[in-house]
Order: sequence, then structure tokens, then C-alpha cells
Amino acid sequence: MSLRELTTSAWAGGPATDDQTAALESGNVLLCRYLPFEVESGETGLFSPAILSSAKNASFDPARGRLGGTSLGGDQAGALAAMMRRFSDAAAGLVDALCPPYRGRVVRGRASFRPAEIVGRASSWRKDDTRLHVDSFPATPSGGRRILRVFSNVNPEGRARTWRVGDEFEEVARRFAAALTLPLPGAGHLLALLRITKSPRTPYDALMLQLHDRMKKDDAFQSSSPQTRVDFPSGSTWLTFTDQVSHAAMAGQYQLEQTFLVPVDAMLEPARSPLRILERLKGRRLA
Ligand SMILES: [Fe+2]
Repeated sequence: MSLRELTTSAWAGGPATDDQTAALESGNVLLCRYLPFEVESGETGLFSPAILSSAKNASFDPARGRLGGTSLGGDQAGALAAMMRRFSDAAAGLVDALCPPYRGRVVRGRASFRPAEIVGRASSWRKDDTRLHVDSFPATPSGGRRILRVFSNVNPEGRARTWRVGDEFEEVARRFAAALTLPLPGAGHLLALLRITKSPRTPYDALMLQLHDRMKKDDAFQSSSPQTRVDFPSGSTWLTFTDQVSHAAMAGQYQLEQTFLVPVDAMLEPARSPLRILERLKGRRLA
């Protein structure tokens, strides 16, 4: 696990901001300890798990301006959308500042607001994010594109968000590769026809979902694979490729997150992508 601390204290970077693209691609978690997301006075009422209509988080689609996962309506829903829009824009500015080679190539996905405490949240093993995993989306296949996520701890009581950060992708993939099975031809298209997925699930996406599940289900892997505890202080912001760096969220409440999708051919070193690593291990094209 490699944690790299940055002195960045502005969302749009600054004159001294160095290009962090290579550091991200090699599996670092970049921590901006002094980069808080400023919550406005009219937004403090949003800081309650009671705003959720789902178990985990409220979501915001910046492309459509649409909220999900919340029971709020009227002015309160408007305030939540405005806060998440502001975070989404700030996170996009940060990625632009830290990763100049990705400018114009990154696609902005959804943002999420997680007002619920992690500790004690009951869930099935598959949804249990306190178990080490790499990210993969069941309903929205990435098709091989990278998942880059920006997180900010906005806990108003000053509490940290605690992760375990585990091995890099290649190590994990080697451990589980033999158990990952290729889907039947046409299976990915069928899922899209049945509207289980928003687009056809590629063999890459199928293998990543299996890997996610295998990691979470394996008690020996969870307890004995190399891992480090990291506390992200309230007021800090961090980013990493969550499809590559194994992670588990152990404790904390109130987090904002924005997802970005990065095409493999926009990378400085495409060979480091989970797509290319799995293709090498399986000996065939996967997307
Ligand atoms: Fe995750």
C-alpha cells in the first residue's frame, strides 16, 4: 500500500501542483490532508442519515442534475443537489489539476453523499464494504475504463474516516485468476436486453465482478493479505483508482464522493490497467 501526501490546498490546484498521474496509475492513494470541502450554512440540515431512502447513500447524476436515494423533496432536495453539484465540480477541477494528461478524456460519473455511519450497518457479504475489494459496477459496466474516485470527509464532529488499504491489483488478480471464469458468448448482451445492465457486460466486467466477490468471500484473504489502516481526517480529500487499489471502509460518517471514468488509452501506462493485467493473465482480449 502506498499513501502519498500532497500539500494541495485548493480544488483547482495551484502554481506548485505537480502532475500526479503516474503516482495514481502506480496504485497510490493521494491524500490532500488540507483540502476540505466547505459546507455552507444552509446545508447543515442535510447532515442526517434520515435523508436517505436507501441503506447507503444519496446519489447525484451531474449530467442530468438528478438525485437518487433520498427521501428529501422541495427546497431540501434542491439544497442537496446544489451541494453535490458543487462537490462534483470541485472534484473535476482537482482531477484536471493533478492529472493534466487526462484533461478532456475523463468522463464524469455519479457523485454520492454517505451520511450513514459505517460501523454496525448490516448487509450481505457482497454489499459489505468493510471487506477488502476492488470496485466493479454490476449495473453499469465500465467496458474496461478505469474507475477513479475522489472522496472528501465532511464529518462535522471532526471524526476520521477509516479504511483498510490492501494489495495492488496485480497481486490480487494473480491470487484469484484461476478461479475467474469467462462468461458464455452473448451472455453480456442478454443482460443488457433484459435491462439488468445499462450496456452489454463485457467479459472484463464479468471477471471484475467475480474478483470483487471472491475477494469479499475469502476470509483468509481478508485477514492475512497485506493491508494497512489509514485514517482520513475530517476536512481531508483523497483520490485513487478504486478498481486497482483494494480497499475496505471500516468506520466513519458523512462523506462526499465523485466517480470518474478514464479510458485505458488515456493512461500513461495502459499496461497497468486491470483490463490489460487480466488480459495477460487470461491470455485473451476481454473488452
Ligand atoms: Fe469500494
